[in-house]
Amino acid sequence: MLDISKLGDDILRVKCSEVKTFDRSLELLTEAMFETMEEAEGIGLAAPQVGVDKRFFVIGLPSDGFRKVFVNPQIIETSVEEGPYEEGCLSLPGLSHEVIRPLEVTVFAQDVHGKAFTLKAEGLLARAIQHEYDHLDGKLYIDRLSPDEKKHMIELFKRRKKNERKGKSRKRV
Ligand code: NI
Repeated sequence: MLDISKLGDDILRVKCSEVKTFDRSLELLTEAMFETMEEAEGIGLAAPQVGVDKRFFVIGLPSDGFRKVFVNPQIIETSVEEGPYEEGCLSLPGLSHEVIRPLEVTVFAQDVHGKAFTLKAEGLLARAIQHEYDHLDGKLYIDRLSPDEKKHMIELFKRRKKNERKGKSRKRV
């Protein structure tokens, strides 16, 4: 299982670089990312969230069996129509907030072997693709909220972290 970077870790704010080598280590890393994501009950995980500053992410939607690696993705089209959806992120565990985004996207990407594909997505998949894509540019969903909402989310995150630490030390005593 891989460690998941949390809000405050510098790696989450990096603009990641293109993947140029499609080798066995990339394949193994994406497999470990799927396992880590599933264990954490997430539906998407981007490379910087596991400490890797490269442009790729994995998405797995248990409800419809969708499971895919997106390497060097580009969002080539977005719908004009936008809508709200309650988003969470494994880097801000336990929190969520409504975010407005386009409802449909078309993404061009490569698979883990370097083979190119184009995918048109809507619903939860379109949402997950945009959220994960943001991670590759060092962006988090809280950056898309109003300054006040963002501040509030950061405070909630810090409070949660503090309580977690307290809980841990209590267990040790
Ligand atoms: Ni996320």
